[in-house]
Amino acid sequence: MDITKLFDGAVHTWLVSGCAGFIGSNLLETLLKANQKVVGLDNFATGHQRNLDEVQQLVSPAQWANFHFIKGDIRNLTDCQHACTGVDYVLHQAALGSVPRSINDPITSNDTNISGFLNMLVAARDAGVKRFVYAASSSTYGDHPALPKVEDIIGKPLSPYAITKYVNELYADVFSRCYGFHSIGLRYFNVFGPRQDPNGAYAAVIPKWTAAMIANQRVQINGDGETSRDFCFVANAVQANIKAALTQINHSEVCNVALGDRTTLNELFSAIVASLADNGIHYTQTAQYGPFRDGDVRHSQADISKAKALLGYQPQYRIREGIALAMPWYIQQQ
Ligand SMILES: NC(=O)c1ccc[n+]([C@@H]2O[C@H](COP(=O)([O-])OP(=O)(O)OC[C@H]3O[C@@H](n4cnc5c(N)ncnc54)[C@H](O)[C@@H]3O)[C@@H](O)[C@H]2O)c1
Repeated sequence: MDITKLFDGAVHTWLVSGCAGFIGSNLLETLLKANQKVVGLDNFATGHQRNLDEVQQLVSPAQWANFHFIKGDIRNLTDCQHACTGVDYVLHQAALGSVPRSINDPITSNDTNISGFLNMLVAARDAGVKRFVYAASSSTYGDHPALPKVEDIIGKPLSPYAITKYVNELYADVFSRCYGFHSIGLRYFNVFGPRQDPNGAYAAVIPKWTAAMIANQRVQINGDGETSRDFCFVANAVQANIKAALTQINHSEVCNVALGDRTTLNELFSAIVASLADNGIHYTQTAQYGPFRDGDVRHSQADISKAKALLGYQPQYRIREGIALAMPWYIQQQ
């Protein structure tokens, strides 16, 4: 799919909060390549200047000139107001991710993900933006066992992070009812791809394992390896964001963004080994099995029919294609 066709020749101004992070920098890259104007807001809590530098290398100097970066914090209303000025569409990605991080430090996750979110909503509403699209999360399904996950059927949250993401949805809904300010929440399911941080205690499984495996180190599987996830290549999530922003819906919605598939950790391990081999890297270790991780759900798989019907979302990349596309980036990082 040619994403540039979605803009129909029009040039809009987009605010990408969290633009120095993984998903935010991929949104930034796609928007700049489509000759859109982008305002970025980030405080580098978990994002990096190197992600912005990398995007700069991937676009033309004229496209890069369409980017205005604001170093600021969503916990500060003035920063949010400054960033929202003159913006058509907000793609709000800034948050502290990671279930374990929120278990270790619920206060900072709450401040960023709830107070920061509320600041962004108020600033975007007051600036009169056309659409507020935000990063919601599959963690909102909590302890509900039903599979595949359908938007209206959720359980109890299993972590402080999950609470924050659910509260975002509640606030977004209330802003629709009280102020007529409509938004679309995208419940991401395990997004992966280039620029997802492989380092640190809170790294996500695909970049963390891949980095270790390139160095031929043993990786640990939490639990028996039959835990499953609906891994979604980042280009699919980018497509969902742009379609959600440009849709004509006049009320608030929440949609799953995933592939609609389920891959176990054991299958993921094999897929990464195979992709490394395709790149001439022969991994010789076996996985080490450890305890299950607190706050983790056992299985996750999205029903993506709502996003398809409402947004015209059509995921283009399956997990193995995504891993193959991201692999040169992972290798380059070593
Ligand atoms: N990656 C996934 O699989 C996934 C799944 C579900 C939901 N999400 C959500 O998607 C969004 C993006 O996630 P990501 O994987 O790109 O994470 P990331 O950590 O790479 O990006 C988050 C960005 O937000 C910035 N940020 C954090 N606190 C901030 C603050 N107070 N003010 C300004 N900027 C701040 C960080 O510096 C970082 O650049 C987050 O809201 C996350 O909760 C991600």
